[in-house]
Amino acid sequence: MHFLHDIALAIALYATLINAGPAKILIFSATAGFRHDMIPTAIGVLKEKGPSINVDFDSTEDASMFTDDNLKKYDALLFLATTGDVLPNDKSFQRYLNAGGNFIGVHSASDALRNSKTYANEIGSLFYNHPILQTFVVDVLESTHPSVAGLPSPWPVQDEPYNFVSDPRSLGAKVVLVADESTYVDNNKSTTQGTPHPLAWYQEKGAGVQSGGVAGRSFYTSLGHLNESWNDKLFQKHILGAITWTLQSNTTKVSNASASVGNGSPLSPSTTAKGPVQSNAPSSGSKLESTLTSMLLIIFFTFISTSAYS
Ligand SMILES: *[C@@H]1O[C@H](CO)[C@@H](O)[C@H](O)[C@H]1NC(C)=O
Ligand SMILES: *[C@@H]1O[C@H](CO)[C@@H](O)[C@H](O)[C@H]1NC(C)=O
Ligand SMILES: *[C@@H]1O[C@H](CO)[C@@H](O)[C@H](O)[C@H]1NC(C)=O
Ligand SMILES: *[C@@H]1O[C@H](CO)[C@@H](O)[C@H](O)[C@H]1NC(C)=O
Repeated sequence: MHFLHDIALAIALYATLINAGPAKILIFSATAGFRHDMIPTAIGVLKEKGPSINVDFDSTEDASMFTDDNLKKYDALLFLATTGDVLPNDKSFQRYLNAGGNFIGVHSASDALRNSKTYANEIGSLFYNHPILQTFVVDVLESTHPSVAGLPSPWPVQDEPYNFVSDPRSLGAKVVLVADESTYVDNNKSTTQGTPHPLAWYQEKGAGVQSGGVAGRSFYTSLGHLNESWNDKLFQKHILGAITWTLQSNTTKVSNASASVGNGSPLSPSTTAKGPVQSNAPSSGSKLESTLTSMLLIIFFTFISTSAYS
């Protein structure tokens, strides 16, 4: 009886192990316009906190990394305070989005690739302008969403209250953070961004996908201007929750063995073999083999130890 119980335990452990692979995210922080000095701080915080949300972050400012082969390793792309035309060729980016890839944009990422319709749709709206950096109040609209769960509302932040050229809700985005415009002065607001004033939003199906593609998730937040933002526990809760939510799209390998992009562990070798990305199969296979070996060792030693005492 003990032995059967041990087998059941080992199988449960095995099932957990093969689904435990971290998600992989590529941080892209190239700038062709204004360069935020918080970029290294933000990358440092994300890489440090990555393990707490089971994410392995790579970072680059090299647009030549945007090839089909490289992007397919990632469960999400995170555009961090990018500015200007930093991606001369967005074809691979488009194909990544069509394959179920997820997207996260932070702060001035909304002021990048202004000539790319794909990018504008995927991020939800583009930056218009902002009044000076100051302390103002942000309100939470959907308090159970992982990106804002546990945040106070009203939430006083020191940041730039961004204005946008259009209303992300017109693309189907759901707004989670809005600016309380009564808490600051702005003589040149956008008249086209919609009400209440959007500051962070999500798209269940990122609008950058082309018809026939598999849409992943998209999240954008305009907050995060200062080093202090990144060292702030509440902002960290916001951004880590946003990343966690984005990865739950089930359109990348971390949670969908038949997805075309992402770093997750497949559920079984046969599912992998049927998947469109063959190049990942050998490493997944050996991961699976070593897991099976561990499982057999666990059963063997538990059997030995239970036999010895019974
Ligand atoms: C923000 O942090 C970076 C290092 O991560 C530093 O170079 C920069 O000077 C800091 N900015 C301010 C305003 O302190
Ligand atoms: C309002 O902001 C827009 C976008 O930055 C700018 O083009 C325009 O000149 C500003 N208008 C005034 C009156 O400052
Ligand atoms: C993803 O899969 C999980 C587990 O099966 C499920 O609870 C969740 O609703 C799915 N999410 C989407 C967006 O399909
Ligand atoms: C899993 O991935 C496949 C292949 O991209 C896709 O067709 C399917 O819709 C995905 N499943 C979910 C729940 O999104």
